[in-house]
Amino acid sequence: MRIGVLTSGGDAPGMNAAIRAVVRAAITSGDQVFGIYDGYKGLVEGKIREFTRNDVSTILNKGGTILGTARLPEFAHEAVLKLAVKQLKVYDIEALIVIGGDGTYRGALDLCKHGIKTVGIPGTIDNDIASSDFTIGFSTAVNTACEAIEKLRDTSTSHQRCSIIEVMGRECGDLALYSGICCGAEYIFTNDTGLDKEKLLASLKADRLAGRKHAIVVISENMTDVHKLAEEVEEYTGYECRGTILGYIQRGGRPTPEDRLLAARLGRYAVDLINMNIYGVAVGVIDNKLHYAPFEEALKMENNVNMELESLVQKIS
Ligand code: F6P
Repeated sequence: MRIGVLTSGGDAPGMNAAIRAVVRAAITSGDQVFGIYDGYKGLVEGKIREFTRNDVSTILNKGGTILGTARLPEFAHEAVLKLAVKQLKVYDIEALIVIGGDGTYRGALDLCKHGIKTVGIPGTIDNDIASSDFTIGFSTAVNTACEAIEKLRDTSTSHQRCSIIEVMGRECGDLALYSGICCGAEYIFTNDTGLDKEKLLASLKADRLAGRKHAIVVISENMTDVHKLAEEVEEYTGYECRGTILGYIQRGGRPTPEDRLLAARLGRYAVDLINMNIYGVAVGVIDNKLHYAPFEEALKMENNVNMELESLVQKIS
């Protein structure tokens, strides 16, 4: 088999470990493997070359993606898609492994409809792919967010302040929920919990009156303007307050062992499936077991709200 591999969408720590696993597993299985640079954009432009085992040496512990990545909304257009299929034909590539999030899977589904045998690996810090319990990059992003929140707690404690911290996650609250719980945040708000501003202000005021000296509020992106909210907290609660947007540092850094292991397992599994002529699917882990689901299903599946973790916040904050 001649197999292509690309990374697409927002980069995530552990993507390199996944590329390495795909390349090594494919070569060990007797396949040829081609690295495609800059996601679907590079595919359309023909930025493709054959990879050897050595091309993926010493990348296992590196953040980012050696293949580069891009977002290409135009990939949904038939004419652009046809260019991609043409490039794959030029290199005689019969199968493709794509590493990314839901946008990447949508592109993969379109390629399947054009006869390209495609398998998807979940690589995103958001953990928003319902066909896998965890996505590659999530564990590292939780670690990064925790490290930052702990530092913010140091300074908020010293100044007796409230800190409002915005973390990434697009529509998915997992990054806020996991990092918030692991840092003992007093309040966590996600798309699932919603944000009742009046209630938060009243509650912070009551905390302050009861003698609490500092507070950490973790909040998912796209919910509110955290700097404006910090001003309102100052105005109504008696707390001095600062807002911090963690931003893109959450996407970088050395992948955790969990992400490396997940990447190794899923990279190898994707190659195995292609060699078994199973494609049009996204791989993942469910209850720590390897699993695959058709792209259509993977894209339709609802991300279940983690009720157990959400109730935990109320019990122990
Ligand atoms: O999907 C990963 C992610 O970092 C999201 O958490 C965030 O909403 C988005 O990407 C940011 O995208 P961009 O890199 O295009 O600004």
